[in-house]
Amino acid sequence: MIIFKKVADIQHYLLSIRDKQGAVNFVPTMGALHDGHLSLVSEANKFDGITVASIFVNPTQFNNKQDFEKYPISVEQDIQMLIDGGCDVLFLPSVEEMYPNGTKEMPTYDFGYLNTVLEGAKRPGHFEGVGQVVARLLDIVQPNTICMGQKDYQQCMVVKSLLTQIGKADMNLVVCSTQREPDGLAMSSRNRRLSEGQRAKAGLLYQCLVSIQTKLEEGDYPKVQKECMDILAEKGFDAEYVSLADADDLTLLDNYDSSRKMVALIAASIGDIRLIDNMLLN
Ligand code: PAF
Repeated sequence: MIIFKKVADIQHYLLSIRDKQGAVNFVPTMGALHDGHLSLVSEANKFDGITVASIFVNPTQFNNKQDFEKYPISVEQDIQMLIDGGCDVLFLPSVEEMYPNGTKEMPTYDFGYLNTVLEGAKRPGHFEGVGQVVARLLDIVQPNTICMGQKDYQQCMVVKSLLTQIGKADMNLVVCSTQREPDGLAMSSRNRRLSEGQRAKAGLLYQCLVSIQTKLEEGDYPKVQKECMDILAEKGFDAEYVSLADADDLTLLDNYDSSRKMVALIAASIGDIRLIDNMLLN
C-alpha cells in the first residue's frame, strides 16, 4: 500500500495510474478502523481498478469539542489493517493540507430538509462539515465509486445530495450494510470508548430496532417507540430519538406505513458516548 500525505502527490500518482489501472474506488474514513471499515474496503475491491482509503479526522464536522478531542486515533494499527484488507493507496493528510486557506474559505452546501431532522437537528453544523470534507476529498481523489456505511444512514443521503450539488450525480455511491458485533451493536470507532459496563448495555440499541421491526405487523409504532425510550432510559441511556422515517427521503412517520419503504433510526448516549444505529424495515 502506498501512503500519501500531500494533495499534489496523490493527485499526481492517481493521474499516472488512471490510464493503466482504470477506475478509482474510494473509502473515506476518520480512522480508528474496525471490521466495518474493512467491509467497505472489501466492497471497493470488488470493482475494477484500485482502492483508495483516506484517514482524516475532520475537525469541521464535530459539533461537540469534547467528541473531537476524544476521537480515538490509531494510525499505525489502521495502516496495518488497510494493508491486510488489500487497500492499494492511503491518503493521510494534515488539517493544513486539507484546508490550506482555512475552513472559512471552503464552499458550503445546502442539504435542506436533511439538515433539519434527526442528526441534522441534533448536531448543528455536522452535515455542513461532512459536506465540506467529502467535497474536498472527492475533488482530490476523483473516484468512480465511493463506498460508505449504512450505519450513517442520513450521512449517506447527505452525500448523495452533495454529489448532485457538485455535479457528480453519476458517481457510484455504494451504501454497504452495517457490520455488527455478536450482540448486535453496530461497529463504530466510538465503541472503543465504552467502559465494560457501558459496552454490556450497548446492544440495547439494536434490540430496540429489532423490536420496531418485529412489531410492524401489530401496527402501533407509538407504543413500540415508548417502550424503546423507556427501556433505554431505564438502562441509563439518554435517548435523543427513536424514529421511524421514509427510507427514501427521511420524512418522519407517526406510524408504520407499509406502502412506503421504512427505516427506523436511533440515537442515544451513554455517559458521554453517543451511539447511532438504524434498520431498514421492509
Ligand atoms: O463517516 C465518516 O467517517 C466521516 O463522516 C467521513 C465520511 C469520512 C467524512 O469525514
